[in-house]
Amino acid sequence: ELAAAEHGLESVKRKLCRLVASSLSATVPGLDVETILEVSKAGFGDYQCNNAMSLFSSLRGSSDTNFQNPRAIGQAILNNLPPSDIVESTSVAGPGYVNIVISSDWIAQRIQHMLIYGIKTWAPTLPIKRAVVDFSSPNIAKEMHVGHLRSTIIGDTVARMFEFANIEVLRRNHVGDWGTQFGMLIEFLFEQFPNWEEVGNQAIGDLQSFYKASKEKFDNKESDFKVKAQQAVVRLQQGEERYRAAWKKICEISRDEFESVYKRLGVELEEKGESFYNPYILPVLEELTKKGLVTEDKGAQIILIEGQSALIVVKKDGGFNYASTDLAALWYRLNVEKAELIVYLTDVGQKLHFHKLFSAASMAGWLPDQNEYPKTSHVGFGLVLGLDGKRFRTRCTEVVRLVDLLDEAKSQCKAQLIERLTENGKIADWTNDELDRTSEAIGLGAVKYADLKNNRLTNYTFSFEKMLSDKGNTAVYLQYAHARICSIVEKASKDIDELTTKASITFIHADERALGLHVIRFQEVLEQACTDLFPHYLCDYLYSLSEAFSKFYTSCQVVGSPEETSRLLLCQATAVVMRQCFNLLGITPVYKL
Ligand code: ARG
Repeated sequence: ELAAAEHGLESVKRKLCRLVASSLSATVPGLDVETILEVSKAGFGDYQCNNAMSLFSSLRGSSDTNFQNPRAIGQAILNNLPPSDIVESTSVAGPGYVNIVISSDWIAQRIQHMLIYGIKTWAPTLPIKRAVVDFSSPNIAKEMHVGHLRSTIIGDTVARMFEFANIEVLRRNHVGDWGTQFGMLIEFLFEQFPNWEEVGNQAIGDLQSFYKASKEKFDNKESDFKVKAQQAVVRLQQGEERYRAAWKKICEISRDEFESVYKRLGVELEEKGESFYNPYILPVLEELTKKGLVTEDKGAQIILIEGQSALIVVKKDGGFNYASTDLAALWYRLNVEKAELIVYLTDVGQKLHFHKLFSAASMAGWLPDQNEYPKTSHVGFGLVLGLDGKRFRTRCTEVVRLVDLLDEAKSQCKAQLIERLTENGKIADWTNDELDRTSEAIGLGAVKYADLKNNRLTNYTFSFEKMLSDKGNTAVYLQYAHARICSIVEKASKDIDELTTKASITFIHADERALGLHVIRFQEVLEQACTDLFPHYLCDYLYSLSEAFSKFYTSCQVVGSPEETSRLLLCQATAVVMRQCFNLLGITPVYKL
């Protein structure tokens, strides 16, 4: 194991899967069966292999089987398990479940190994080296709404999970910076700010109101504004300098606004907006036409998709659209950026668009069969709802200003924190700056966690009260749990680094072992979260980890007990894993609370 440190280790589940797979091929030679291994629910073991039952049904009727019942197969699977230092004991239960108990010594060693060589040794192993994560992707001059906030938060976590798994991630902000709305915006800029080249970005002010006002003008049938705007689009697309410059200016103002949100959230993104792919559209469409995929339909160019409406790639007026841009972007990501996995984070409402896009790419021969790379995946998410069950809005404006939302979370956190510290007489130990940084970390973490903890496919209800509660599955609760562990370790005033190499971990109490087992499961949970692209697996894990810790801490004395050093190491390992989870979720951990 020590030799494997640099390359990281194999997760517990993967190790067990290999053992079980080897047993299965000895038990039913020649049969290609997928191992079914899961964490035990019944409490007989730590993991259970469930292959016996389905194997029995598939063998039934074949003449050369000697198995009388599924349980007999279970027994054979057990007998054929290769010996391993990871397994403490095995048993067959019920109709044929094979229970596996992991060796306590092995768990302890694995934890100690991680403490010595770092959490990186528990990075998941995934079969790819480079991925594109297309997330956030707001539209210029239109509002960056809570949907984009979801995309930003979930996308950042997906990117962080991949990065931790040693995948090179191209974090792409596919901003809507191209399209017909720019004619209107440019024309409006010329009208409202004749000296627009000189005025600072600030003067133009809020782009949302700017967009709204120009749209009103555009929709007014009396004025000739609409015609002018349409001409402006053409002039922009022909590359006329004044129009390019105005377009650039509008994009810049939006960009400043977006940047402030990203900075606040600690999210890194590289903008490659729709305009970037514009030069690639024509050649890509030519390729698809040559391959016979593009047909004409009432003046538009379309790609027929089996079982779905067609994908329009050139509009009737000859213009390109969202789909043509996405085809070009996909081509670029596959051929120039050589990404093996390309994931897109948008609300589930765009599911069909991506389904059609990926189908077209498969028909073009860009994507291989389902189980091979490169792969594409639409990571959809539900709506953000307000407490009234409708789309989330604030009282005064139609949309929620993201920065205001974050400010609100922070200020509520601060009030809460001050109240708590005043109550328990600790307020004097805190500087203003500490209070501020802590509330920022907890508040922003709470907003992120409230979003990430749900299965992303469902709608989620935005509630400050719920997300800022210090009870239940919230970031606030978890921050407290983590800070408490840190203070236990600190109070012992032992050199923890020295302990890590000199002392060793042993499990005496059942709750202690249960915590240890949960700690080492981090890697396989993360692996599954990366495979299924479900960050909430990680949140569920983090929450149950803190519960396992509470249970341990209730039944086992740490400081001052004969087991102190071993237990301190277990505390430390729990804190390290919790921090790594926070990190992957984009949450800044707090050490003192
Ligand atoms: N700008 C789009 C929107 O706000 C999202 C873009 C997602 N990415 C993509 N490649 N289509 O809905």
